[in-house]
Amino acid sequence: MTEFLETSEAGIARAAQLLAKGETVAFPTDTVYGLGADARSDAAVSAIYEAKGRPSFNPLIVHVASVEMAFEFGVFSDAARAFVEKHWPAPVTVVVPLREKSALSTIVTAGQPSVALRMPRHEVASQLLDAFGGPLAAPSANLSGRISPTTVAHVTKGLSGRIGAILRGGATEAGLESTILSFLGDAPIVLRDGAFDSTGILRETGNRDVPIVPGQLASHYAPDAALRLNAVAVKGDEFHIGFGAVTGEINLSPASNLAEAAARLYSALHRAEDKGADRIAVAPIPNEGLGRAINDRLRRAAAPRI
Ligand code: TXA
Ligand code: MG
Repeated sequence: MTEFLETSEAGIARAAQLLAKGETVAFPTDTVYGLGADARSDAAVSAIYEAKGRPSFNPLIVHVASVEMAFEFGVFSDAARAFVEKHWPAPVTVVVPLREKSALSTIVTAGQPSVALRMPRHEVASQLLDAFGGPLAAPSANLSGRISPTTVAHVTKGLSGRIGAILRGGATEAGLESTILSFLGDAPIVLRDGAFDSTGILRETGNRDVPIVPGQLASHYAPDAALRLNAVAVKGDEFHIGFGAVTGEINLSPASNLAEAAARLYSALHRAEDKGADRIAVAPIPNEGLGRAINDRLRRAAAPRI
């Protein structure tokens, strides 16, 4: 049975206790809700995959309470160290070489010699990490391949009965997953667009010597319905998600604000799914700044299911 916990001191203490026993706990972060488990325990990390029904063992992001905790698990170049000291806590994940003999479960890193680390900027997440006192592996708290959760209701819809507990925080702020940067080479490279503005940082190119992001399947973040992008007008019975002057049935941001649109994107897709829409049309979103991450998620949601 899944426990519903308040974000009080007692609720967070209980969540930390469950994590220490190897259970999974869903918790709010600055991006989306995560499904956390002790990143040092093979059994606890396996429980994440089982709860999500995740078919393959992609490496997971390890959430830490502090920059110092990150240094225990990853080898930070001067550039990587300067970056996290400047920006964390923030919705940005860094991929760095895995420290030898680190305490992390090899399932978390999928046996790779690198590790993805992030310190979330969220009061409940950091209180939980402090109370637990260790690293938490945490993918988004949704069934594999489904829309990421930005509210407790979304988490409950997908995972109630499958996980140890859900911490009842409010809606998450950014609404999109973290930006992932590789610090494995000489200069940082964007592996995944996300909630952190990565303008000016190099993007992945065809010939690079960093591993691809295995979780970046073409079809991901997918609702049941078929999705049509760049839709200025609806066809037939489509559920229309608008942006700016393209009104739609719901509008991601009437003022064309990309941060607001990012925060509302998954909620809008959940709404369409809950209404039983078979077809969803989404208004054009400018491909700049956060719009890149929004369009990335929309393209994956629209891709044929595999
Ligand atoms: O905002 C977020 O990042 C959320 C919240 C809960 O923190 N978490 C999240 O985790 O999106 P997840 O597991 O859905 O995405 C992890 C991504 C995957 O694409 C995975 O392949 C990549 O990180 N990744 C993990 N370790 C990696 C590594 N060593 N090298 C390259 N990519 C890695
Ligand atoms: Mg996910």
